[in-house]
Amino acid sequence: MQAAVASSGPGLAAGADRIVSEASRRRTFAIISHPDAGKTTLTEKLLLYGGAVTEAGSVKARSGRREVRSDWMELEQRRGISISSTALRFEHRDVVFNLLDTPGHRDFSEDTLRVLAAADCAVILLDAARGVEEQTLKLFQVARARGIPLITFVNKYDRPGMDPLELIDHVEATLELAAVPLTWPVGIPGDFRGVLDRAGGAFVRFTRTARGATMAPEQALSAERARDEEGEAWTTAVEELELLEAAGAAWDPARFATGELSPVLFGSALSNFGVRHLLDTLIDVAPPPPGRADADGAVRALEAPFSALVFKVQANMDPRHRDRIAFMRICSGRFERGMKAINARTGKPIALTYAHELFGQDRTVVDDAYPGDVIGIVNATDVLVGDTLYLDDPVRFGAIPTLAPEHFVTIHNRDPGRRKQFHRGLEQLDQEGVVHVLRRGDEPSPILAAVGPLQFEVALERLSSEFGVKVSLDPRDWSVARRVTAEDARAVRGSRWGEILERADGTLLVAFRHEYGLQQLERELPDVALDAMTAR
Ligand code: G4P
Repeated sequence: MQAAVASSGPGLAAGADRIVSEASRRRTFAIISHPDAGKTTLTEKLLLYGGAVTEAGSVKARSGRREVRSDWMELEQRRGISISSTALRFEHRDVVFNLLDTPGHRDFSEDTLRVLAAADCAVILLDAARGVEEQTLKLFQVARARGIPLITFVNKYDRPGMDPLELIDHVEATLELAAVPLTWPVGIPGDFRGVLDRAGGAFVRFTRTARGATMAPEQALSAERARDEEGEAWTTAVEELELLEAAGAAWDPARFATGELSPVLFGSALSNFGVRHLLDTLIDVAPPPPGRADADGAVRALEAPFSALVFKVQANMDPRHRDRIAFMRICSGRFERGMKAINARTGKPIALTYAHELFGQDRTVVDDAYPGDVIGIVNATDVLVGDTLYLDDPVRFGAIPTLAPEHFVTIHNRDPGRRKQFHRGLEQLDQEGVVHVLRRGDEPSPILAAVGPLQFEVALERLSSEFGVKVSLDPRDWSVARRVTAEDARAVRGSRWGEILERADGTLLVAFRHEYGLQQLERELPDVALDAMTAR
């Protein structure tokens, strides 16, 4: 008894200290960008600076290995979009970064929402010539709505693009936040020499390396030397900054923390310019993992026993294994391989034996991990997106929000001999959140619902390649949906506006042909609560 007290007392305290200190040196973030803005390039360069690759170009080479790509990844290649999200871990200045990838297309905004539920900060990556593009605005709005800190990186400054003052105005207007540059470009886009670092007023001159394959040498020069050597390019940068300062572009950590103010950095991922600045900004201003609020709003402290939130479940990532990986973000405590956690939804134990960290397509076994880290549990059956896993002290985190679908189709199985595979496939896609699978009254065929039509393409491709099922789709004419309670659904059924659709987990949606129908129902049944966000 005496021994037990002694070991749980000081021993536990030491463990708690370790957990808090490990958490404090973690930064868990996502990069959100429009396809082609340079996310792959920037990711690679972050890995280069983090020492995870020795020469840029290796990540592409790894992911290009054909035999480890699943069929649906071919769709990504064909469409030039990124659908699968992976988590990468690397270190810089003794800080462990967990970089969560997000898809770069509005149709996959729900994936972005799920990834952001696991991130503490997001980098908004913009192409200097294109700024915020229509297709990506929704993704940024999703990040903005989550209320997490946002850092803006203006990429491709090595080639002609928007004037920096114009860019700042544009970002502020489209994203509805205050944009405060931490660095300011010296030289025009296309003749980019380096940046004025606002923190110390120095000029950081960048030098190119061959193909940007190795780190860009940086030279810090005093303002006086910069004026002498760069002449007009320097004085223009100083004057532009004075203009911004007069307009009140001041750094404010409190507004940054809530996502109302975004620091802006200028650079070129291809030439490695500004990459170190971005890492340093993530270390110096982005938050380490905080304690996470549970479904009732109580905060689970970092040093509390192990808990994790499942934010992504993906099957068949590797066609050689046909496995199912549940990605979870550790929220408290220390993860140790082989530990048995409880799934808060089912109350059942789950052995966390096969835990992996993924690097591109490669997997590494994880022995221990801390708050902020992301691990993939292989063959985690009966684990769904939104599940909480915990040890000892029960906890259940709030559901991950999903977006109301805007596109609907009826799906027909064209091969009666593969009925079982058809239903298994749909169940899998619904659980992963690829599409919502719904039923309407006694209609024999299920209905698929999505935020964007590309989700249907992914569903079709996966049903065909993974389940050998041939299907056809019939578009439905709904375009707006809201979630309702079972009680309110009864009232809606008596109205001529809206149709009730049901998801396998019992969630009820009202679908409308257009906004007008929604407005009419709101007028007719003012007491019915219509929720624009659903949840998993
Ligand atoms: P994505 O993941 O966001 O879709 O973008 P990706 O990194 O694949 O970059 C898209 C294109 O933009 C690539 O050119 C890439 O080389 C280029 N790029 C990325 N960052 C910069 C930059 O800072 N400056 C300039 N000038 N270009 C940049 P590509 O021709 O499509 O491919 P590749 O042949 O270069 O691989």
